[in-house]
Amino acid sequence: MISCRRATNADVDLFRSIRLRALQDSPGAFGSTYEAAIRRDHASWRDQILSTSDGIDRNTQFAFAADQCVGLAALYRDQDTASGEIVQMWVDPDQRGSPAASILLGQLRVWAAEVGIHHLVLSVTSINGRAIKFYEKQGFRSTGECLWTDPNRDLQGIRMTLTLASLRDE
Ligand SMILES: CC(C)(COP(=O)(O)OP(=O)(O)OC[C@H]1O[C@@H](n2cnc3c(N)ncnc32)[C@H](O)[C@@H]1OP(=O)(O)O)[C@@H](O)C(=O)NCCC(=O)NCCS
Repeated sequence: MISCRRATNADVDLFRSIRLRALQDSPGAFGSTYEAAIRRDHASWRDQILSTSDGIDRNTQFAFAADQCVGLAALYRDQDTASGEIVQMWVDPDQRGSPAASILLGQLRVWAAEVGIHHLVLSVTSINGRAIKFYEKQGFRSTGECLWTDPNRDLQGIRMTLTLASLRDE
């Protein structure tokens, strides 16, 4: 049984540990690296989670199986475009193929609609076939646009988008 909840100000250590696990587990999935993240100080993790724990601009969600945290995802509003970017999406390898990822994304989609974000974007690395397939199942489509490259790791981030308003037409 998977449950989700929004991060609170008390979740600084949980956020740091799960994000570091994600970066260590899936180095080819993110623009950020474990090596850079492990050097961040406590204040930077605290400030990041505080910016997401209430309000209408950012939302971090944790997924739990029993009392174990097994997933993380966040949605950050882009003030200029009125869209929102899905970031940090990760579930524990033991929970892949379970509903955890879709529940996390579902929570963020509901919240996005509540706070007036109607267009979701994300970047996924071109080598990450599993994530691309997951997002396609959730209705996202690739625009083919390359958002960033990291020549040191031979990675490029590809843009995928989903217009939430279109869900009402399905
Ligand atoms: C991305 C992620 C959250 C998706 O969650 P998940 O539980 O694995 O997703 P699902 O199992 O529901 O969907 C993945 C689909 O890809 C398929 N798949 C598995 N490996 C694949 C591959 N190499 N290429 C293409 N498709 C693949 C799976 O069979 C599944 O399809 P199905 O439901 O038709 O069988 C999870 O895999 C994860 O945390 N990955 C590591 C971190 C990551 O990549 N984050 C995304 C950053 S943008």
